[in-house]
Amino acid sequence: MHIQPVSSLRGEIHLPGDKSISHRYAILGAMANGTTRISHFSDSQDCQATLHCLRALGLRIRQSGNEIEIRSEGWKKFQQPRELLNAGNSGTTIRLLSALLSAAPFVSTIQGDDSLNHRPMKRIMTPLMQMGAEIGATNDEFPPLRITGSQLRGIHYRLPVPSAQVKSCILLAGLMAQGETTVVEETPSRDHTERALPFFDVVLTGANRRLKVRGPAFLRAAQMQIPGDFSSAVYFIIAALIVPGAEIWLRRVGVNPSRAGLLTLLENAGARVEKTNLREFNSEPVCDLKVCFSHEPLSRFPLEISGEQLPNMIDEIPALAVLATRLERGLSVRGAEELRKKESDRIHSIVVNLRNLGVRVEEFPDGFCVPPGQQLQGGRVQTFGDHRIAMAFAVAGLIATEPVELDHPSCVSVSFPEFFKVLQSLSSRT
Ligand code: S3P
Repeated sequence: MHIQPVSSLRGEIHLPGDKSISHRYAILGAMANGTTRISHFSDSQDCQATLHCLRALGLRIRQSGNEIEIRSEGWKKFQQPRELLNAGNSGTTIRLLSALLSAAPFVSTIQGDDSLNHRPMKRIMTPLMQMGAEIGATNDEFPPLRITGSQLRGIHYRLPVPSAQVKSCILLAGLMAQGETTVVEETPSRDHTERALPFFDVVLTGANRRLKVRGPAFLRAAQMQIPGDFSSAVYFIIAALIVPGAEIWLRRVGVNPSRAGLLTLLENAGARVEKTNLREFNSEPVCDLKVCFSHEPLSRFPLEISGEQLPNMIDEIPALAVLATRLERGLSVRGAEELRKKESDRIHSIVVNLRNLGVRVEEFPDGFCVPPGQQLQGGRVQTFGDHRIAMAFAVAGLIATEPVELDHPSCVSVSFPEFFKVLQSLSSRT
């Protein structure tokens, strides 16, 4: 696929439902007693993988467009899957479902595609094994995970890496364990699980980043509505900020502060971003966003992003790397070694592709630096099968001097199957 430079970008976008939240509501619905109804469920391949695995555990799930209905008799009634569970490309699927499998009275195996089968799982295996599960893995670390479930017991666990997937995995396991489970997180990460639990009648307590749940918990089915995915919105936000004359509207975008850290940075730097119609869907803040190009450079944008700033924009770094080529003072991203453990090694993927498009960039073990004064040229982009790399560099193509060619564009379906169609609908070329 070739992305051609555009002369303008205008229009209105309806985003897919948030992927992180969709996984959580589906899993909580599966654990709850009764019929959970979820609207604006993500149409991503990742969330379909979660539904597929839940069906294999005996859940009855009806899907009509973006509405889903999950009927369950509660987490004690999960059935032993007759097949290997396949999480596809989805880290959230394997890490959250491992909690459910650890508490189930049977042996099961869950694995992913080639990318997921090379991503680290010790971070969830360690706490789940402390709670009483038995888990075998390739080299004690990688999927397939062979999980022998048992009666779990509550633990007190300090997260060694800031990770919402690990935090959520332990909280879910804690709901099925005997006694109290405490998760301590030093650096805050996305809090969708915490915001969702009360809607399923679960009491979550704790302060100062010490979260506590008590098991065994009874979860009640709920009615949930999902905001538009901020991590999908960000490609259009960045596109509107870099294409001269651009003006776009994004409707019902999730702007939970633990996810939308980049939006705050952009607002503080003077970007023309207007939030209207602020409201909440199931305790998740949502708004409409208008984003316009401005000739004023984002001169107040930080020179460096690092440390505690990263978790609330971790999935936005590929898009941010494209914006970096337009920042007056350039940009460094440091302390971001976690990026090497995503769907691809994202530090490497970003550096290789910026260089492919003629940008000077320095690579570090924990990040990269884009010096000021750059121009994106055309060239070939290696997506590494990583949806966020494909979408970020498609946006680069809008302002490159020559067309940008993506080697595997269909990988965008992992999170945003309609991405190219939406981009096309906004674009004009002269
Ligand atoms: C996610 C958490 C983040 C993020 C991932 C989705 C989630 O991963 O990168 O895309 O849904 O909890 P970590 O928890 O590993 O940081």
